[in-house]
Amino acid sequence: MEKNLIRFNDVRVKYKEFELYCQELSISKYDRIGIVGSNGSGKTTLIKALMNLIKYEGEIKRNITKDDVGILMQSNNVSDLYKVKELILLVINKKILNKKLLLEIEKFGLTNILNRRIEHLSGGEQQKLLIFLSIYGNKNLLIFDEITTGLDYSSRNKIINLINDIVDSKKTLLLVSHYFKEIDVATSKIIVIDKGRILKYGNLNKLNDLINDIIFKTESEIKDLSLAKSYIINEENIHLVNKNNLNNFIKNCEDKNIQYEKIIFKSERIFLHSMVEVTHATI
Ligand SMILES: Nc1ncnc2c1ncn2[C@@H]1O[C@H](COP(=O)(O)OP(=O)(O)OP(=O)(O)O)[C@@H](O)[C@H]1O
Ligand SMILES: [Mg+2]
Repeated sequence: MEKNLIRFNDVRVKYKEFELYCQELSISKYDRIGIVGSNGSGKTTLIKALMNLIKYEGEIKRNITKDDVGILMQSNNVSDLYKVKELILLVINKKILNKKLLLEIEKFGLTNILNRRIEHLSGGEQQKLLIFLSIYGNKNLLIFDEITTGLDYSSRNKIINLINDIVDSKKTLLLVSHYFKEIDVATSKIIVIDKGRILKYGNLNKLNDLINDIIFKTESEIKDLSLAKSYIINEENIHLVNKNNLNNFIKNCEDKNIQYEKIIFKSERIFLHSMVEVTHATI
């Protein structure tokens, strides 16, 4: 394999009111890239173009075949009538679950549900099964699009640590996520997308330096939190947290059992481009 795995050249995807445009983007072998951006910014569209799942203009060079790719998208249809065990055997093309496989299954917390039908699994259990299936096999490129959404806090941490372990030095990872912690644990580079444009692409450490505040959304209002500036915008609870206060903010939310969601990275430019309403409401 060449060092360059994927290369975008003047790529455009057009929907009615939305256009993804990517003048130039190179993904190298062994890159571990986080893809972030607010809802509707074009993350999933970028992945779909990359995998040739949608029509696009321009050129995408791929030095990889479909068989080399393990992919899990935001929504997947799993045949409901299979039992977990049956589906695993079917996907990995084996007749029985050997000892090594059972150990892997245990790591994903699937052992107790092997004989349950897919239709009777909880959303989180189904997601863990899908992650297991997409990771299994010796894939060189792993693509995950918001795969931990819906998992509880502990399952999310477990899965992301597992992904981090599995993506050893010989694999390439593309991870779309709204969770800062996931990006931080599993990736070393980051692509920031806003309104169909790549605003930044580079080393995570360097980009981190550009990020002053991080925006959180929570289900409930948090009034007594001096660590964050809190606003209600379009009936959503938005909190602007300085990255120096990040760990304390997260701990505070967890102590108070407040679910936080959708961490949006904010550099000065992203703020101006995509958070205009927030700017007006806060300044
Ligand atoms: N098949 C389609 N037809 C028309 N518009 C579409 C289609 N697919 C996506 N879009 C639009 O393109 C934009 C980008 O969508 P995309 O799914 O790439 O966003 P995203 O960054 O993955 O968002 P999220 O964080 O919510 O998953 C959105 O405005 C979406 O409504
Ligand atoms: Mg998406």
